[in-house]
Amino acid sequence: MRRIYFDNGATTPVLPEVFEAMRPYFSQQFGNASSIHHHGQETRAAVERARELVAALLGCRTGELVFTSGGTEADNLAIFGIVGPGDHLITSAVEHHAVLNACKHLEAEGCEVTYVPVDGRGVVDPQTLRRALRPATKLITIMMANNETGVLQSVKEIGAIAAEADVFFHTDAVQAVGKVPIDVNQIDCDLLAISGHKLHAPQGVGALYVRKGTALQPMLYGGRHERSRRAGTENVPGIVGLGRAAELARQKLKRGDELAPMRDRLERLVSQIEYAGVNGAGTPRVPQTSSMHFDGIDGEALVIALDLKGLAISTGAACSSGAIEPSHVLLAMGMSHDQARASVRFSLGQQNTMEEVEVAAGLVAETVARLRELSPREVARAVRRG
Ligand SMILES: Cc1ncc(COP(=O)(O)O)c(C=O)c1O
Repeated sequence: MRRIYFDNGATTPVLPEVFEAMRPYFSQQFGNASSIHHHGQETRAAVERARELVAALLGCRTGELVFTSGGTEADNLAIFGIVGPGDHLITSAVEHHAVLNACKHLEAEGCEVTYVPVDGRGVVDPQTLRRALRPATKLITIMMANNETGVLQSVKEIGAIAAEADVFFHTDAVQAVGKVPIDVNQIDCDLLAISGHKLHAPQGVGALYVRKGTALQPMLYGGRHERSRRAGTENVPGIVGLGRAAELARQKLKRGDELAPMRDRLERLVSQIEYAGVNGAGTPRVPQTSSMHFDGIDGEALVIALDLKGLAISTGAACSSGAIEPSHVLLAMGMSHDQARASVRFSLGQQNTMEEVEVAAGLVAETVARLRELSPREVARAVRRG
């Protein structure tokens, strides 16, 4: 069966160039990057070269990067590394669970957290955020691009508000990096998280940008790796892969956006289906992601039915699949439980083609029609509710 993978928001395949760059570091160049002999020097040089490549993608200095095991660890390090007992922090209702659950944990520990709402497009109003500031506010953490809808937040404006209030600003850029240009100095953020596997590097590697001079408490205690900000022997092949993927992403960004035309075509074709629509339309979004609702249908049933036909998509965040509750992101945007449950996410990657888009759109149309035939009462109910 022909398989089409439109779930790049969950993870992306490692690019062949990335895989080739990593290959020697599994066996030939295997040294511990902290060893002082030849083998260690070789891998240390590779780690530092990768650091330069990631720094070039984000517009920061090499000393401002901490390699981590991925986006979750980078988000956690940003939050737990800054916020302590008695502090207040501000986040949004649509963050990834890597941020939301870290905030919930801090709440249980006695910190105060404000979850600012979003509008119907999924956008945080920077002025609402400004009004949420308190004397005890230590950190603002707002994502750059949402993982379910692709909606971009006004991070530059938020960065300016944080700087004016002398509050730290962290942004989760996991779904934005490599898709839109990022310059940490333009955003004026103090911390920024990225993850390798959303960028065609391997799973299990990521990085946190930490602005020079930011006092960050480590989460792991051990050796003095990563300038004592993240103890543990470096994942050299992963870091090398992240560096190469960052280099390729930078070149790609210079060439222009190749994903948006595919995403737009997909949305145009799929929107022709009756009672279907794009969630978060009408506001800037990253080019790879499209969240759509098909009223009267169960999103999970659609994901399963399409998988049987060879098309891989998701109901939202990969880590929430199997969750009984509908997406917190779509609910925060004011969608009804029914419409949130009737939503799925399509997310494209560099390996996808326009021809796949055409085939996928056809599969979606026929599958939605078949599922609606099976539950006409659900459809009628959804349509009546609008
Ligand atoms: C917005 C966002 N933040 C954080 C993460 C977590 O990254 P990782 O899977 O590398 O831990 C993800 C992964 O889906 C994400 O989409």
